[in-house]
Amino acid sequence: MLTDNLIDGRAIAQEVHAETESRVASLKLAGVEPSLMFIRVGEDPASKVYVGMKERTAARLGIRSDTTVLPENTPETGLLELLRKLNADASVHGVLVQAPLPVHIDETNVFSAVSPAKDVDGFHPLNAGKLMLGEGGGFVPCTPGGVHELLIRSGVTIEGADVVILGRGNIVGKPMAAILCQKAKYANATITLCHSRSRDVAKYCRRADIIIAAMGVAGFVKANMVKPGATVIDVGVNRVDDPAAEKGYRLVGDVDFAAVQPVAGKITPNPGGVGPMTIAMLMRNTVRAAEQQTDECAR
Ligand code: GUN
Repeated sequence: MLTDNLIDGRAIAQEVHAETESRVASLKLAGVEPSLMFIRVGEDPASKVYVGMKERTAARLGIRSDTTVLPENTPETGLLELLRKLNADASVHGVLVQAPLPVHIDETNVFSAVSPAKDVDGFHPLNAGKLMLGEGGGFVPCTPGGVHELLIRSGVTIEGADVVILGRGNIVGKPMAAILCQKAKYANATITLCHSRSRDVAKYCRRADIIIAAMGVAGFVKANMVKPGATVIDVGVNRVDDPAAEKGYRLVGDVDFAAVQPVAGKITPNPGGVGPMTIAMLMRNTVRAAEQQTDECAR
């Protein structure tokens, strides 16, 4: 693999972790142990892996964490009751309910029930609204926040850039658009948000300076959709059958990496691009939640 145009998400995540660790140390000197509680409902295999990775990273950075696993058939009221307890527990600074939830549970109700001050996912309507209004001070969702940080720390010009975002989900596409369209430093971009009903997605992609692929279609972005020199960020995690693989499947992104890398100016590998940044931003949000809750108490 060529390496000269790679955006190394693992290395950049380590930079963020180093900053987070020093904030953890300061909190501990002040007698505060930052803490993050995970809730998983059911046995979704991908969610198990993701929460496990987040827990291990928290431990490495000195953040206390614990996971409550609720059975698949837990009623929504049971989950809301647990959230009320965690919201009221002053020793808990961050709360994360791993998505997707079983279909009988309304995600919007659940995300709205996490205290905005502990909403390190940035999914509460108050935090989503603050992001949209460009108010600052709220929590920014971790994956789009991580993509933003990757662009900034890789020296990609965002100001005035034509950015095409593929996918309009609440976790990545919509907040990504909100981040990059703000009248602010490291933003001021022109955003095109493409989705499953968009006509001629390739046309928009070809004029983009930055493509952010988050639509969940394996290998969707091909070389002939990318302007030479453009930056390509691959958020996708898709399972494709592979009888040769030990588990019978492989994980691939939304970008046809082998074909696109030679055309792109900069590109994220996948894995090793966006994934590590999502976790880094979660840890940073948690430490900020702990700092803010500590400041509140001191006042
Ligand atoms: N599922 C996929 N991405 C995320 C995320 O960033 N947070 C939560 N809670 N669930 C997810």
